[in-house]
Amino acid sequence: MTEKVKTLRLGLLGCGVVGTGVIAALQKQSEEIEHRFGIQLVLVKVAVRDLQRPRAPFVDRSLLVSDWQQVCQADDVDWVIEAMGGRQPAKEAVMAALSLGKPVVTANKELLAFHQQELAGLARSRGTFLACESSVMAGVPVVYMLDAYFQANRVMRLQGIVNGTCNYILSQMSESGEDFHQALMQAQRQGYAEPDPTADIEGRDALYKLAVLVYHAWGQPLVVNPDLAAGITGVSTADIRLAKRLGCTLKHVVEAVPTASGENLSVYVGPQLLPDGHPLAQVCGVNNALSISGDLVGNLIFEGPGAGAGTTASGILEDVVRCALHQPDLAVSRDESLWEGSVDVDHQMAEMHPSFALRTIGTGTQSLRHQALLVRWQESPHGSLSLTVWENLIDGTGERQTLNGKLFTPDERVAWAWGAEKAIPVPMGKSCRGRRVWFVFQPRHSAAEGLRRVVGGTDGTQVERQVLESTVGQWAVFPFADGFVTDFEQLYEMLEEIEAEGELTGAKVR
Ligand SMILES: NC(=O)c1ccc[n+]([C@@H]2O[C@H](COP(=O)([O-])OP(=O)(O)OC[C@H]3O[C@@H](n4cnc5c(N)ncnc54)[C@H](OP(=O)(O)O)[C@@H]3O)[C@@H](O)[C@H]2O)c1
Repeated sequence: MTEKVKTLRLGLLGCGVVGTGVIAALQKQSEEIEHRFGIQLVLVKVAVRDLQRPRAPFVDRSLLVSDWQQVCQADDVDWVIEAMGGRQPAKEAVMAALSLGKPVVTANKELLAFHQQELAGLARSRGTFLACESSVMAGVPVVYMLDAYFQANRVMRLQGIVNGTCNYILSQMSESGEDFHQALMQAQRQGYAEPDPTADIEGRDALYKLAVLVYHAWGQPLVVNPDLAAGITGVSTADIRLAKRLGCTLKHVVEAVPTASGENLSVYVGPQLLPDGHPLAQVCGVNNALSISGDLVGNLIFEGPGAGAGTTASGILEDVVRCALHQPDLAVSRDESLWEGSVDVDHQMAEMHPSFALRTIGTGTQSLRHQALLVRWQESPHGSLSLTVWENLIDGTGERQTLNGKLFTPDERVAWAWGAEKAIPVPMGKSCRGRRVWFVFQPRHSAAEGLRRVVGGTDGTQVERQVLESTVGQWAVFPFADGFVTDFEQLYEMLEEIEAEGELTGAKVR
């Protein structure tokens, strides 16, 4: 029993899933924490939007206030825990608390993805700190690891499954053969998907988390453009089947890796084909996992429940106790000056990314890291494309076009543009005028270069605009995990076998 007791008066913003979890965790652990560390955690105020809303029975309603300022500005609040979500008024509230020198613990990945550097800077300037363990993978201590362990090591790569909703849906599709919509409804019934699941299934949530991780790994903010992320809405049962036949599992993956020159960072958010033996391929259901590679230590993998009241509250309380105890500096995002010579996030590249990520092509540098991309093209369900160039490219008629003085079919043109090794047309049935074509690439140049070649222009900006105008859902890109495809002949044989068995025929695909 510690003799001297230090009291921390906590103000909580939000009493939803996470806020309620924090209250429950405080009630359960406070005594033990006081006994072990001499820190008395006392909840003094809780801000909510609607005072009349029913709350869990153990929530002391006398603590509720309807204005976040009554928490952040209050003299009797020493620390603020932010669990409101969203960018505003969360940003205003966190800034108000930090400006008064109050430490802030937040679970808000969206806020951090856009404003982490600014908020961390404010915390530093006021001699206080901002901690955010639970913003990524809830209670699984990955932010702590990046902040605390990776000091002598340089982080060489982050690769992870950080969205439980996507992982549950893909696991469900793989295990039970359900299509995307059935699996999504199942996720909603189980409480694993929000009534509005857009941020999860479109990959935005995962992108926000990657932005937080990138900042803690390399001390640089990622330019967050939500179009940067590809989600899983376009994944079909045929994709899942093909993945299985290739000995792979389709997972929604976030990845960040410095490029070979070490000057830029290549990021990816979207579906990826992982060989079945890959550690992340084994991560099922709503679980999350992150692989952090250090140049000295090698690959470390962290896995656990990445969402939910209990585990998120755990991440929050660990932040509070750790920072209160002895290492507040760890909570402040690392000083960039420590990372002289470290990678810069290439803003131009990040901004180019949307051209590829809208189920189009990958990042400009991503293809250099992946030995192969398996690209599915399918005709728009609505049959039309907004761009002439794309209509010409994939109108499915097989008309030959002239390109650089050479005649190409649309398939050949795509294959040429990315240096594809193999194109497998898949008939869609008599009643359907569309076709699907699978392309296997062993990229000889970047995806950006391939895109430029396809549209026949040289102006990257123009390419971006054109692609963004094309109908969403035209392309699905499944990069193979780095280093997986070493034997292309074997891959082609497998694909031919699948094709010969009619696995990818129109009737089955649709
Ligand atoms: N849910 C998870 O598993 C999880 C995991 C990790 C991180 N997070 C993050 O934690 C945060 C909270 O998530 P959640 O799931 O707990 O959300 P939630 O259930 O929607 O709760 C949000 C809470 O904030 C309150 N609130 C919203 N706007 C407010 C305002 N302007 N002033 C005062 N109170 C306001 C709401 O009040 P009312 O109750 O009156 O509406 C509600 O109590 C988000 O940033 C989320 O990304 C969540």
